[in-house]
Amino acid sequence: MNQRISDTAASAAPDYVKHSKMKAWVAEVAALTQPDQIVWCDGSQEEADRLFSLMIKAGSMVKLNPAKRPNSYLVLSDPSDVARVEDRTYVCPKSAEDAGPNNNWEDPVKMKETLKGLFKGCMRGRTMYVIPFSMGPVGSPIAHIGVEISDSPYVVVNMRVMTRMGRNVLDQLGADGEFVPCLHSVGHPLEAGQGDVKWPCNQTKYICHFPETREIWSFGSGYGGNALLGKKCFALRIASTMARDEGWLAEHMLILGVESPQGEKTYVAAAFPSACGKTNFAMLIPPKAFDGWKVTTVGDDIAWIKPGNDGRLYAINPEAGFFGVAPGTSDKTNFNAMATLKENIIFTNVALTDDGDVWWEGMTKEAPAHLIDWQGKDWTPQIAKETGRKAAHPNARFTAPASQCPSIDKDWEAIAGVPISAFVFGGRRSTTVPLITESFNWNYGVYMAATLGSETTAAAVGEQGIVRRDPFAMLPFCGYHMGDYFNHWLKMGKSLSNAPRMFTVNWFRQDSDGKFMWPGFGENMRVLKWIVDRCSGRASAHQSLLGWIPGYDDLDWTGSDEVSREQFEKLTQVEQQAWRAELKLHAEWFDKLKDRLPKTLQLEKELLEIELSE
Ligand code: OXD
Ligand code: MN
Repeated sequence: MNQRISDTAASAAPDYVKHSKMKAWVAEVAALTQPDQIVWCDGSQEEADRLFSLMIKAGSMVKLNPAKRPNSYLVLSDPSDVARVEDRTYVCPKSAEDAGPNNNWEDPVKMKETLKGLFKGCMRGRTMYVIPFSMGPVGSPIAHIGVEISDSPYVVVNMRVMTRMGRNVLDQLGADGEFVPCLHSVGHPLEAGQGDVKWPCNQTKYICHFPETREIWSFGSGYGGNALLGKKCFALRIASTMARDEGWLAEHMLILGVESPQGEKTYVAAAFPSACGKTNFAMLIPPKAFDGWKVTTVGDDIAWIKPGNDGRLYAINPEAGFFGVAPGTSDKTNFNAMATLKENIIFTNVALTDDGDVWWEGMTKEAPAHLIDWQGKDWTPQIAKETGRKAAHPNARFTAPASQCPSIDKDWEAIAGVPISAFVFGGRRSTTVPLITESFNWNYGVYMAATLGSETTAAAVGEQGIVRRDPFAMLPFCGYHMGDYFNHWLKMGKSLSNAPRMFTVNWFRQDSDGKFMWPGFGENMRVLKWIVDRCSGRASAHQSLLGWIPGYDDLDWTGSDEVSREQFEKLTQVEQQAWRAELKLHAEWFDKLKDRLPKTLQLEKELLEIELSE
């Protein structure tokens, strides 16, 4: 439904919009940003088709060959706008202290002034879309609602896949339901007669969060987590502050179910930093020898977790789709993801094949003879050899409906969520960290997660391969002081009579030749089965300085000859000297948290130091 902005903006709302506060906010934003027209999105297929046609006509999107990839599209972004911009991301509570050393901070009044300056007239020549969305199944007591205003049709069609979006969300909100206002602009106004570019954006970028008023303002980027504001901005940064205030958890975690041949079901939530294989782990296919075992997918990136009346934790996936990293995804590494990608997909920054399909590094062993790469240039294996140019950007993505995933769990939309038996924390570490460790108890588990380190990846702009502390895989996503966040986790543990067990994993340990020692992918099932068996008291382990570690014979090796006993010893080895060095890094990280570091964690560190010095 389109209306000219020359109507007063408030009257541009369709009759079915009953929420006067929302209408007033939309009117206020329209007055500031001065779009040509306002469109209230209803979430229908017709609306999405209209926007796809519009983007194709504008030259900013390509429809893929329907015989190869029905109802699917490719978009290439501006080379300056390809990943989350952590250095341009701000969390703005009144006090800098509350943002913590883990966030960039600015005074909220000052930041709003800066943003108002940038947003003034920034939608001129464009359409302003109003996108009501639910994070989580509509009506779930664990779900929450947001409304994104954006001047990007690309954002609308992605939000339609990634969230439950449209008119039914407005119905759920009624006249006065609570929603998080999320304001987004690509920051590229068009003067009369000025033609558009394929990927409008602005060199100046601000991704800003106001936790006390629960608002999000994002300017200048059209890409991923910078622009699809339901994802990192709402479901993690704002939701983590809501969770702290209300006694629940908003986490950067996949959720999977493990079903035994006897039909016993165990749900596991696992936190890994960006681009460390969360999507692959969530869709794992057990090795053939694990006859009758099944892994099912509830979510691949974010978990909202609330306590139930029975002292357990229950989780939902607040998203409705996967915004996954494409490079490296293949039938071999993630068969379920490839099957999910057969139709109804939006691809961003992958390469286009000559027959109108897509390709990325790692999809097939042999690259096609010719491609159009993610920058729209001719690409051949020879060019790649000579220049090192990638066909797909390393952070190229697919946006895919979760419902299409063959391993989707039958309860993935259960409004009560699924009960969590184990938390798993993982990083990308070529040295030091063992393949698998079970924590001695909840508080020590919080310590292990709080000190998690990982080598950086292409998911964020910046240098790659550097080890940084990424506590709970939440460093870029925690919307408040990390010390307070640790304290919240400690408090949550105390409040639960049936708390999940806690584990850390590292799939990425390398030998002295720089080769991965663990085969990963489907073989991770052997570790996962041990985790599940520990939860039901069925698997044994030995005590190490770091926690409980399985011996070679404690894992099920049926059908495997890939990992020798000796290699497994190396994979699970705790090198005391390396850990003494690691603890120095823990200390450096903890020092940054100053007096907000919970004493319990300081104590856990000291105990570990004593153990390691003996
Ligand atoms: C993501 C990320 O897109 O973590 O999920 O960067
Ligand atoms: Mn993520």
